[in-house]
Amino acid sequence: MQVGIDEIGFYTPNKYVDMVDLANARNEDPNKYLEGIGQSQMSVADQTQDAVSMGINATLGYLDHVDLNQVGLLILGTESGVDQSKSGSLFIKSALKLPAAVRTFEIKEACFGVTAGLMLARDYVRLHPHHSAIVIGSDIARYGLNSGGEVTQGAGSISLLIKAEPRILAINNGHSAYSADINDFWRPNNSATALVDGKYSKAVYLDFFERTFADYQRIKKWSPAQFEAIVYHLPFTKMGFKANNLAMAGQPAEVEHHLANNFTASAWFNRQVGNIYTASLYLSLLSLLEKADLAPGATIGLFSYGSGAMGEFYSGQLVSGYQQKLRPIADEQMLMRRQKLSIPQYETIFNEALKQPIDNVELASDEAAGYWYFAGTKNEVRQYHQK
Ligand code: CAA
Repeated sequence: MQVGIDEIGFYTPNKYVDMVDLANARNEDPNKYLEGIGQSQMSVADQTQDAVSMGINATLGYLDHVDLNQVGLLILGTESGVDQSKSGSLFIKSALKLPAAVRTFEIKEACFGVTAGLMLARDYVRLHPHHSAIVIGSDIARYGLNSGGEVTQGAGSISLLIKAEPRILAINNGHSAYSADINDFWRPNNSATALVDGKYSKAVYLDFFERTFADYQRIKKWSPAQFEAIVYHLPFTKMGFKANNLAMAGQPAEVEHHLANNFTASAWFNRQVGNIYTASLYLSLLSLLEKADLAPGATIGLFSYGSGAMGEFYSGQLVSGYQQKLRPIADEQMLMRRQKLSIPQYETIFNEALKQPIDNVELASDEAAGYWYFAGTKNEVRQYHQK
């Protein structure tokens, strides 16, 4: 029995900043952001979008196609949690009207959370082939105004339906993992923004990639030529570009050619959304599937990296007819609908979103009809409403 990804839902908030505007405001050469970092835009979440509401909105993209009574597991991977105790997935479970029998919880290991959830979901479905699992990655990357990491912020969510006999990507057996207790990027409990040792984090990411990729090839007895494409956790697209160069090094021209072209396709959405931490790898997968021309059966490699740090490499096979399960027009529209913010507007929204809302004062959202949003707290209990 094959188990893997049967649906992919995507949501990003309705506002963005253009990187040329940001570079000008920060007295940087725009080419540093556009080429050196590899980002063109970044989505911005206002106070009414958080990990929960974005996760609901991403799942709405395919919810109509799901037999809700068959969903036995709901996992939220996030490092933008809304509560220190209660799982954000419980708010999501209510909004999606999932059955009470669903097992649900939140996972945290920086940007590795969704991969951890996906592996648990795969094993769950192997044991319960008539059930499905929803795994959501939902995050807001915030480093702070005028910080070194500001250009690598973003906001959004990806939701995956994991099923037996999947219609998008069947996950192959085997993986390689590598972990080490290090301090490249973290967010202490008293901080709404992340702390990072930027240059060290880049070096560690590449080190973890080289280790897990080499290990995976050894385990599977494969070479890079086996892969039609490799998708990466993309905190910014240049990071994955560097890892992809390592994967292609010394390979025949035709292997280099397809790995390089497919990397460009896989970075398309991330270049415009920015870092969405746990969901970045899976946004890149969606981008690859919608922007590249891939043969059914093609092997896709996936490199997951979560600071702190945890790396994992695994792969999947594209299922014949996968294109019919995608929504390329709706996903492109998700980006096109966003309103461009001036830098002063972005700074105001950024600062506002860091504040705790005043209890018992309802927040209004400017999202379109049908989307969910965070409406503030009532007697300190978070409220989620649908427009
Ligand atoms: N034209 C073109 N390129 C230019 C340029 C110009 N005018 N000016 C500079 N560049 C290039 C530089 O040469 C450099 O390229 P290389 O990486 O190839 O050397 C690139 O632009 C970036 O320049 P700097 O390193 O000087 O940039 P910086 O000091 O401002 O920091 C950063 C960049 C470290 C990524 C910072 O934005 C940051 O800390 N971001 C957050 C941390 C992060 O994302 N780390 C990634 C690994 S950790 C992870 O993956 C987990 C996660 O999600 C956070």
